Amino acid sequence: MEGAVRGRFATWVRRELKLQRGDERSERRRAARTRTVADVTNEQFERLSLNIRLQHGLMAISIVLLVLTGIPLKFHESGWARALIGLFGGPDVSPIVHRVGAVGLITVGLWHLAYITLFREGRWNLMHLLPRPKDALDAFQQIKFYLGLTDERPKFDRFSYIEKFDYWAVYWGMVIMIGSGTVLWFTDFWLRWAPKWATDIAKEAHSDEALLATLAIVIWHFYNVHLNPHKFPINRTFLDGKISARDMIEEHPLEYERLMNERQQQQAATSPGGES
Ligand code: HEM
Repeated sequence: MEGAVRGRFATWVRRELKLQRGDERSERRRAARTRTVADVTNEQFERLSLNIRLQHGLMAISIVLLVLTGIPLKFHESGWARALIGLFGGPDVSPIVHRVGAVGLITVGLWHLAYITLFREGRWNLMHLLPRPKDALDAFQQIKFYLGLTDERPKFDRFSYIEKFDYWAVYWGMVIMIGSGTVLWFTDFWLRWAPKWATDIAKEAHSDEALLATLAIVIWHFYNVHLNPHKFPINRTFLDGKISARDMIEEHPLEYERLMNERQQQQAATSPGGES
């Protein structure tokens, strides 16, 4: 039993080392696979539109402000927390900065709701973000791969189950943080309608979800997007919106296949002797 576990662990370590060092042979094989309809290895695809990048930028700035001015309140007895409060103008100014961040977060929430309802691109992205049974199968396949039970990684379409989880976690977090934050901001108003214990619960929910959201961003989001060995130190897609053909094939093979098929059909339709 111990031998079997050790064997599986050794397989996994070997595979990870091979992946991380970019083993020459698998690089060559991957480059060969990349040459499909045309030699598109150097091609860049648009992954995030300007609209999405601006939403992401506003959200990132707002969350950084909210975390840096909110978390110190939770740990206000620690020296580092007092130093951070001081950095943001002390106990009088720091709560104002927190509210500025909150207005930014509410703005991006409304903007995103408009994006997924009024814009064709937004509705299309939302459709691809809906959870499907394939996501559970992909997660299962990924675990099997990590345990060395299969050599096949799951093949993702436009969004992997990890990216979908990231997206929907933000919805949940926004509802809790904006809902409870509004109660903290306008407590006197809420106390006219709700009992004191309800506002106490809002404070508790705000405080606990703040820590959970901060850890989810720092551990889950940052690792998956920037800090993993394939992307370290930074994934520039959030800045220029681009993804290389190589990364498309590696990370979103089903979407890549679809795009190539569409391109082939378009080429056939517009070439002399084609349909049009
Ligand atoms: C990612 C988003 C956010 C994080 C991480 C965060 C974090 C925190 C934390 C940790 C506290 C201290 C709770 C305690 O005393 O234990 C706090 C307080 C507070 N938060 Fe937030 N918050 C966020 C979003 C919001 C939003 C959207 C609003 C408003 C709609 C808001 C309004 C408030 C208010 C009014 C307080 C009371 C303290 C004060 O007067 O500044 N927060 N926040």
